[in-house]
Amino acid sequence: MAASPPEADEIFQPPASLQAEAHVKSFKEYEELYQESINDPETFWRRVYDGFYWKSPPTGPFLDYNFDVRKGPISIKWMAGAQTNICYNALDRNVEKGLGNKIAFYWEGNYPSDQGKITYSELLEEVCRFANVLKSLGIGVGDRVAIYMPMIVELSISLLACARIGAIHSIVFAGYSSESLADRILDAECCAIVTTDGVWRGNKLLNLKSIVDKALDICSERKHAVKKSIVVRHLSPKDEVILSGDANGEMADDAIAKRPCRTLKLHWQDGRDVWWHEVMQTADKSCDPVWMDAEDPLFMLYTSGSTGKPKGVLHTVGGYMMYSATTFKYTFDYQPDDVYWCTADVGWITGHTYVAYGPLANGATSIIFEGTPFYPDAGRFWEVIDKYKVTKFYTAPTAIRSLMKFGDEHVKRHKRTSLKILGTVGEPINPEAWLWYYHVVGNSKCAIVDTFWQTETGGHVITPLPGATPTKPGSATFPFFGIQPAILKDDGQEIEGTGEGYLVFKKPWPGIMRTVYGDPERFETTYFKKFPGYYCTGDGAHRDKDGYIWITGRIDDLVNVSGHLLSTAEVESALIEHPAVAEAASVSHPHSIKGECIYCFVTLKQGEQFTDEMKVALKNMVRVKIGPFAQPDFLQNAPALPKTRSGKIMRRILRKIARGDRDLGDTSTLADESVIELLFQFRPSDA
Ligand code: WTA
Repeated sequence: MAASPPEADEIFQPPASLQAEAHVKSFKEYEELYQESINDPETFWRRVYDGFYWKSPPTGPFLDYNFDVRKGPISIKWMAGAQTNICYNALDRNVEKGLGNKIAFYWEGNYPSDQGKITYSELLEEVCRFANVLKSLGIGVGDRVAIYMPMIVELSISLLACARIGAIHSIVFAGYSSESLADRILDAECCAIVTTDGVWRGNKLLNLKSIVDKALDICSERKHAVKKSIVVRHLSPKDEVILSGDANGEMADDAIAKRPCRTLKLHWQDGRDVWWHEVMQTADKSCDPVWMDAEDPLFMLYTSGSTGKPKGVLHTVGGYMMYSATTFKYTFDYQPDDVYWCTADVGWITGHTYVAYGPLANGATSIIFEGTPFYPDAGRFWEVIDKYKVTKFYTAPTAIRSLMKFGDEHVKRHKRTSLKILGTVGEPINPEAWLWYYHVVGNSKCAIVDTFWQTETGGHVITPLPGATPTKPGSATFPFFGIQPAILKDDGQEIEGTGEGYLVFKKPWPGIMRTVYGDPERFETTYFKKFPGYYCTGDGAHRDKDGYIWITGRIDDLVNVSGHLLSTAEVESALIEHPAVAEAASVSHPHSIKGECIYCFVTLKQGEQFTDEMKVALKNMVRVKIGPFAQPDFLQNAPALPKTRSGKIMRRILRKIARGDRDLGDTSTLADESVIELLFQFRPSDA
């Protein structure tokens, strides 16, 4: 387990200006509401329930669950039998309330000159049209639709259209490789995919469609046909698109002057591939929502698992709707005149909950950002904040750390006077980055919310509330409403008071995942078997003398690289596919910007040389099998790996070797101690 983070002495009080208007104005008020949410969850969540439109009420108990594998299968049901539609609540309802002309999304493209906006009424119309398109393709309740897109408004339209007709969306981050995309499509047996022609990322033009085409080929080879691929024409006319195949692509004629012009060749498969703008043209702009049971699936989202095979985390309609909306409202203290910006990609859970569903359910105005923090320069975030007068901003510690490196001038060039709340998510934030975010970005006047949660939790589970919680840099502080955390020792005993151990939760909240798609057994084994009676997060945590919770990081074989969870097993199986590799072991390694990175020990087959070319080929293997973001930072030649007598690789020792730490602890179970010295010798000098 990672060492406890240093406890900062300093406590930061909620800004008084925020407190006055906040939904929760003091820590005392938070504690009262929190106690109610734990002692009487039904009363607490019924109030939330009453804020939504339900076609019909629950037919059984409001909450029904079993969290204990010893008593039978794990099951979690909130408001079963009640009927609703999350898209209806996110759009129609806001239009009916008079928010039709309010901006739902500003779109800020990769290029600062690319921009757009869409109101709630317009969004509703587009969503209805796309829902009709999906219906016309024969897609309906329970069908799985894959989405592989950059951060554009059509991405939100796609997921809302699925939700409107009861289709289950499975969004795959558009940085995954063809093979990873294919694995996910196959696991979910998706019948269609929505994508775009290409996308600019900084100065790079990526041909997304060709990645999708390759993935669909892999699917066909494995006897699964994806019937339709709907392609958004996203590139501007200057980025010329050449089609091969029979169909012809219409090009919009708005000219955008400054971008570099490149040519993108698209292969077009008639019958399967259709242009979004063509099918949308004839689609009707109204579409009745399909009323879904609160416990019907809403979406699945794949997350890395310790064994290497990704898990399709399944969320359901009613609970997720209530939880995403409620956490958004309280954690960002949502106010009607806010302009809110979450920089996460919708391909990750943060984008699902805090770009799409949470803000829309509250009728908020937010920003969809296609670009990167460094393009055209390291001031982009702050420029966008001034441009739209952003009040609440949510990003990842990795981004903060890398921007810190560029110096304060990039921040100070911009005013940032609109900012009130600054959030972080995805990985532990080191106090140094927290303090920079607070003092430099926030001018020492904004509340910082370090939000801990997971794909599995659906929304924030440990987080400060900006008007109520005094914060300590580096601590996610206290549980959200309805969340009952405990910290367990190895033997499963709860630690009372201060101490460090496994972070678990004792009771379900509405937004918790319901199962692993197609694999309920894996759901139970991963989250409920280790400590019966608890949901096990897989993270370590430490509680300090004031009751603050500090997340210490993963305690399984997952590595958190720049806020993206990867399994060491997944990286190893990619490496092993290279014909020169006999064996590979990868471990997590500290990294000053990414938080953690991947360090691989590779044993080559006899006669193979560990040359620079070999290293490039191995890194490339990981890029192709998983995606560029998974590329290892360090590869080291390992003539042999440290193993126990029964042949198990001792990763604990590998982590130490990677760090150059000779204090190896107990090595008595090692089969061959001479391996250790050899590995220290081969350690790269820059590790
Ligand atoms: C880590 C992202 C410390 C943690 C929302 C968790 C964090 C994993 C924090 C989930 C935080 C997320 N402090 N660690 N504020 N937020 N994590 O599923 O290890 O992509 O288990 O969901 O990220 O990553 P996931």
